[in-house]
Amino acid sequence: MKPRSLSQLRKEAASCRACDLWERGTQTVFGAGPERAGLMLIGEQPGDREDLAGEPFVGPAGKLLDRALENAGLHRAGVYLTNVVKHFKWVPRGKRRIHEKPNAREIKACRPWLDGEIERVRPKAIVCLGATAAQALLGRDFRVSRERGEWIASELAPFVMATVHPASVLRSPDEATRHAEIERFFADILKASSVL
Ligand code: URA
Repeated sequence: MKPRSLSQLRKEAASCRACDLWERGTQTVFGAGPERAGLMLIGEQPGDREDLAGEPFVGPAGKLLDRALENAGLHRAGVYLTNVVKHFKWVPRGKRRIHEKPNAREIKACRPWLDGEIERVRPKAIVCLGATAAQALLGRDFRVSRERGEWIASELAPFVMATVHPASVLRSPDEATRHAEIERFFADILKASSVL
């Protein structure tokens, strides 16, 4: 059977009630990008900005990702961007909505959507951004700190790797570290682009 189209999946995911996160999120933030993308980038979950816009990676982490893609000669319009969890999980702190990590149950509940996206796009390369995506896709024992930037044998795609989440790069404690982390992050995305 032919896998469902992305627009079909997106429509179905919009009313997903497989976990409770829909109650707090503004909307389901489904993946974005062409069905024929060679590269799929997978993050953790939409953040505050993405939740409001309904698009993945449109906030500060997304801006850094855009720069990394451009540095590798790619453009976001040509890659498929998505998340392991498709609702923003947050807790209130004053007037702000503070990101909370999704738990195993929420990740599992959302998995059919991600599997549907991978099945339909069949990218040549997948890059997991951060530990949540890496462990969801490559196993609980996977450590980004140990295997970052390495190709990992996986049935998900011919080339699969994990790197840090761009938001963690932005949280670097000082300018020098941030600069070095940006360089390393750019190098990982460049390596991913080299197999396309
Ligand atoms: N962080 C993510 O993991 N995904 C987004 O879409 C935005 C920020």
